[in-house]
Amino acid sequence: MGTPTTQMPTAAESRQNHAAQPFTAAPPRTAIEAIDLVKDYGEGSSVVHALRGVNVAFEQGRFTAIMGPSGSGKSTLMHTMSGLDGATSGRVMFEGHDLTKLGDKQLTLLRRTRIGFVFQSFNLLPMFTAEQNILMPLTLAGAKPDRQWFDLLVRTLGIQDRLGHRPNELSGGQQQRVAIARALITKPALVFADEPTGALDSVSSAEVLSFLKSSVKELGQTIIMVTHDPVAASYADRAIVFADGNIVADVDDPTAARMSELLMREREQATRGMGAVPLPEHKAQRLRGQA
Ligand SMILES: Nc1ncnc2c1ncn2[C@@H]1O[C@H](COP(=O)(O)OP(=O)(O)OP(=O)(O)O)[C@@H](O)[C@H]1O
Ligand SMILES: [Mg+2]
Repeated sequence: MGTPTTQMPTAAESRQNHAAQPFTAAPPRTAIEAIDLVKDYGEGSSVVHALRGVNVAFEQGRFTAIMGPSGSGKSTLMHTMSGLDGATSGRVMFEGHDLTKLGDKQLTLLRRTRIGFVFQSFNLLPMFTAEQNILMPLTLAGAKPDRQWFDLLVRTLGIQDRLGHRPNELSGGQQQRVAIARALITKPALVFADEPTGALDSVSSAEVLSFLKSSVKELGQTIIMVTHDPVAASYADRAIVFADGNIVADVDDPTAARMSELLMREREQATRGMGAVPLPEHKAQRLRGQA
């Protein structure tokens, strides 16, 4: 591979050639990829097919939003791709490893240093203060915090006055922002964020999303974010729509209007045949970007 031929180079050869030429803009590289990823919960008649053979690659330095109805498998995709949960079959390739084959120890190390995760349910440790929670990945790794980065995170997320408080003394939105800071404190190459703005008001949400977007640009991070909010998705470079364990749409440079349209279409298709269930008005407004 890589030797000059008169034939067209393969994609892999052309990637290698680009790598050898520092002044040529490198084509985007894959940060993480799911190959035929299947996740079933339960078995027999009660089995739930949460992921039905998903194939998707996320490029390095890109911000991707994942949208789709509740129960469509978005959190399951994030959990299996990050190695937090095992897959039923298929592979997850990250930095040359198939994460589905790694042992617990290797996965823990990888997640501690290379992958950040913002949980839908925050998962803060109740006995520790906000500051201790944020620094926990570094504490566990025995690493020193970069104080400037810590300060920038807490300032941007507006939690500098809450650092000495435990999670039960914080509002939902504050807990969410602590969880975001904890995921970013190690400057991980890859960040999974499961509805990171779900508990935030629209101003804080816009601030967090702008910060995530700038961290993709400045740190070259790859961010994969689940959201129900088409406006939040419009901050991303790419948006994927999930339905019933599969990808049903994949768009570049999403706008809120385009995402609302795709979600509405998905909902219409899902309800066709089961007798259309009208969407509650506040949810319809949210999808239309009016709330
Ligand atoms: N631990 C589990 N055991 C059994 N079934 C599960 C489990 N976790 C998820 N499921 C099921 O798998 C499917 C996908 O769930 P998942 O949490 O991935 O959906 P989601 O798209 O993230 O939904 P939401 O938008 O509500 O967060 C659902 O039918 C759910 O009930
Ligand atoms: Mg979810």
